[in-house]
Amino acid sequence: MPQQNSPAGQSGDFPPFAQRHLISIADLKQHEIIDLLDRAEQMIAISRQERKSLPTLSGKTQINLFFEPSTRTQSSFEIAGKRLGALVVNMSVKTSSVSKGETLIDTAATLNAMRPDVLVVRHSAAGAVELLSQKVGCSVVNAGDGAHEHPTQALLDALTIRNHKGTLAGLTVAICGDIANSRVARSNLLLLGALHVRTRVIAPRNLLPAGIENLATEVFTDMEAGLKGADVVMMLRLQHERANGKMIPSVREYYRFYGLDEAKLAYAKSDAIVMHPGPMNRGVEIDPAIADGSRSVITDQVEMGVAVRMAVLDALLPARNDA
Ligand code: CP
Repeated sequence: MPQQNSPAGQSGDFPPFAQRHLISIADLKQHEIIDLLDRAEQMIAISRQERKSLPTLSGKTQINLFFEPSTRTQSSFEIAGKRLGALVVNMSVKTSSVSKGETLIDTAATLNAMRPDVLVVRHSAAGAVELLSQKVGCSVVNAGDGAHEHPTQALLDALTIRNHKGTLAGLTVAICGDIANSRVARSNLLLLGALHVRTRVIAPRNLLPAGIENLATEVFTDMEAGLKGADVVMMLRLQHERANGKMIPSVREYYRFYGLDEAKLAYAKSDAIVMHPGPMNRGVEIDPAIADGSRSVITDQVEMGVAVRMAVLDALLPARNDA
């Protein structure tokens, strides 16, 4: 993997980023994914300094518009924008006119009239963020749209893996749990596939979407078979809010067959790392002792989240100016 090593506190010399929006990993070419990971590497260094700021986005306005709850994504986009000097506004959907029946498009047109430079949008409907991007004059970043995509999550996951393993090349990444309803799984499979990383999905048959064999290298319904020899174990929450009806017969049974505990983790490589995008349901998809254990890199994922979002904002906004 090429690495850029500019001194912390300076923005490195990256070529202009050709994309105006970040809606989907599927829109990115391999070199653009690597470019974003390399930019994020510099942002880690900046975020670990005493003075955690760059003036890159000074004078720019970023609006975070979240139609679904978020802890990690919204706060890390806010911190990312502020570390780069942007004016950051968090729109609370509960207290906005959306709660009075205003449509997504009218909300977008209203915000667009305030001339923001970037809108960071999360919505429960797949495709809503792309639709909104067609109605505004600024850059738009998808912070998660239904079960479609969560591109910055996939980027921060790849950065976390690259930093722990030194490379992504030659690794086997197992993604386990509710694949069918997961935008995180979809974005990760697209990104890792673009970088030729071997991917496995492991889930009960009813939590595997149609056509998954076209996205993942291998598909398993059994944890022992799927985890054997894996370098990375990524656990996912059951996305009850996106499922129609009951997903599992019982939590106890699900945990017994699919919850990551010491015994199941032993099937993976002895140096395998454990990831989870959050929010976690302890005792459902993961044993708390594993979540808090020495092989867990879950808090590192959160740190990488800020760096990746700084990198994305840094990459997209100058491109908008060039256009
Ligand atoms: N991983 C993730 O998207 O978390 P939040 O829902 O807290 O933003």
